[in-house]
Amino acid sequence: MTLDLPLTMIVVAAGSGQRFGGPRPKQYLDLAGRPVVFHTLHSFHEHPNIKAILPVIAADGHELWHHCLDPHLSELPRVLSPVTGGATRQESVWRGLSALDLPADAWVGIHDAARPFPGKKLLERLLEARNENMALIAALPASDTVKRVDPQRNIILETLNRSHLWLAQTPQLFHHGPILQLHQRARAAGFEATDDASLAEWGGLEVRVVPGDPRNIKITHPRDLELARQWLQEELP
Ligand code: C5P
Repeated sequence: MTLDLPLTMIVVAAGSGQRFGGPRPKQYLDLAGRPVVFHTLHSFHEHPNIKAILPVIAADGHELWHHCLDPHLSELPRVLSPVTGGATRQESVWRGLSALDLPADAWVGIHDAARPFPGKKLLERLLEARNENMALIAALPASDTVKRVDPQRNIILETLNRSHLWLAQTPQLFHHGPILQLHQRARAAGFEATDDASLAEWGGLEVRVVPGDPRNIKITHPRDLELARQWLQEELP
């Protein structure tokens, strides 16, 4: 059964969190007594088919990583030693993929450290969907009406058909060989994207969307962290 196939998860945590602001990147901020990235790693660690989790961290973030995570890593034995990321998210993912010595058809997941609640049910939906798909991502159908806007004048250029729009999340799952090759081709061609599915689309690989989870938020602004704290508080007995 596909659910039983192993998966290695790359967790990219090399961003500087400029939009969030503050002295420390958002993935290291406190969320109910643990750093945000601890919650992310822990969510994957809970799943028996996620055999290894590879964090990718900033070149100047090793000290902060050890300071924040060392007290908790004994709870997470399947988390590998972090590798160093790059200046863009895409480069960080490429470095993570390059560090993994896996067969071409081995499954890898790619996930943003800044999304601490990927959710057990969502993980199961993704693992199950591997049955028939080469590449798949979590995504939510758009509930708002989406406009394309002229960035200089803030004038609407177009209203997009909402029934066809989905908001991409992570995890995004691929076979290791094809996604690594696509990253290498994109680097050579200078193609830059904000998620890995975009590279797969660009390379002509069919990507299936799997219904995501509204709680799988990406902590981007301080209000997102407040919301995450509130959710965890509500879950406490
Ligand atoms: O900036 P944004 O929130 O879109 O970043 C998404 C994820 O990518 C974050 O978890 C961030 O740490 C990671 N990232 C990275 N390397 C970069 C930039 C972002 O690993 N150079």
